[in-house]
Amino acid sequence: MSDKKSFYLTTPIFYPNASLHMGHAYVMTIADIMARWHRLKGDDTYFLAGSDENTAKVLKVAEENGQSVEEFLDKVSAGFESLYKELEISHDQFIRTSDKTVHWPGALKMWESLVKADAIYKGTYEGLYCVSCETFYTEKELVDGKCPVHGTVPERIKENNYFFRLSKYAPEIKRAIESGEMEVLPESRKNEILAFIGRGLEDVSFSRPKSAVPHGIPVPGDEEQVIYVWCDALVSYISALGYGREDDANFNKFWPADYHVVGKDILRFHTAIWPGMLLAAGLPLPKKVLVHGLIILGGQKMSKTIGNVINPKELIDEYGAEALRYFLARKVSIFEDSDMTKESFKDAYNGDLANGLGNLTSRIMTLAETNLSAPVELPEKSIPQDYIDAIEKFEINRVANIVWGKIAELDKEIQEKKPWESKDKDLIASLAVKLYTIGRMLNPIMPETSAKIKALVKENKKPGTPLFLRKD
Ligand code: MSP
Repeated sequence: MSDKKSFYLTTPIFYPNASLHMGHAYVMTIADIMARWHRLKGDDTYFLAGSDENTAKVLKVAEENGQSVEEFLDKVSAGFESLYKELEISHDQFIRTSDKTVHWPGALKMWESLVKADAIYKGTYEGLYCVSCETFYTEKELVDGKCPVHGTVPERIKENNYFFRLSKYAPEIKRAIESGEMEVLPESRKNEILAFIGRGLEDVSFSRPKSAVPHGIPVPGDEEQVIYVWCDALVSYISALGYGREDDANFNKFWPADYHVVGKDILRFHTAIWPGMLLAAGLPLPKKVLVHGLIILGGQKMSKTIGNVINPKELIDEYGAEALRYFLARKVSIFEDSDMTKESFKDAYNGDLANGLGNLTSRIMTLAETNLSAPVELPEKSIPQDYIDAIEKFEINRVANIVWGKIAELDKEIQEKKPWESKDKDLIASLAVKLYTIGRMLNPIMPETSAKIKALVKENKKPGTPLFLRKD
């Protein structure tokens, strides 16, 4: 048995009906920063990513592309993985809900557990459904008769479905959130979900006719129905670990999750429906649900359906993944909605990276290489406590601000002390040590830049080429 602390972090599994945009790159980046931090601390870390493939929409899009559902899904999920690679996402597993070996046994086991707990019953659903959200809506929830997220008119459907008795679990869900057994962060989202639960939780339609989603997971014992995609998708957080399979060692080791990282638009699924399912199945609840804000463009959520997307690949090709990770960590507010434009990105790149960190590294290491005969001695533990406090609370903006605060201090020290005039060896050595500490602190946010800076200090060398080339 390892005495390392286990740390399990999940990201939403994305819909494969469209390619990923900046909003998705954002979630993956902040989660990756956290995963890297925990690995650095020495925790036994497991970081999950995936795709949510058993949706009605996929069928339509595959058809439009003249492909079979399988071909289409293979292509899109390979695209997800290729973006993650470029963005330096360090996930340990990529789960696909179409995977009959890895995922389906868990989804089926969950369904059977819900049936056993008498949490499933047959009924008729009559109402509204937004295919883009894969969500049932009430009239009250619509804005001018349209889906509040996508601005599209939902379908009116009447179906015989199985229902999940969510209402029964409402008091227990409320208690778990209030007591902090399942923390919902930040506080404003906790209050939002408590208010929502306070207005009364209704039972949820938990299956769809097979004709609507032929490739969905069949309801055990009913060939005409498939499991509702959200029920199926949420289970991926545990099926990935082996729940429902013979080898469930990871499930025993990593569940309950330390963090589910989710956007505010999927809060209810994660803090009402999912805990309801887990309670019914007699499983422990996740420890924390971290709810981030959305990237908006021109006042609207960036979304493929709305059509206002920035493609992360484009920025990576031009500026590099490290620059994008920097921007997302520092300039996008983690808990509020943030506007992002290509111009704001370029300004940050030139100001903070090319002229900022890149220039600083080059000045210090040029001085060190010229004036020091050997590399400096490196500090043992040098991560400041305020940085640790911030990252432990998932306050990614504060973490990045602390690092750039150190960069500004170091810049100021050089301006004031003018080491290029005095050539004071002790001073130059101390600057190199401080740069090394900055390199260390950069590890979770910009892993490659961190490694480069640390290597330069260790080898007492100036960079051969600038870390970041200025862009006009
Ligand atoms: N498939 C579901 C999640 C199932 S999890 C068991 C889903 N997929 S999604 O493709 O629509 O993407 C969901 C995630 O991306 C959410 O966390 C959502 O908040 C995030 N984002 C989508 N657009 C976003 C922005 N514009 N900004 C930030 N995050 C955004 O929902």
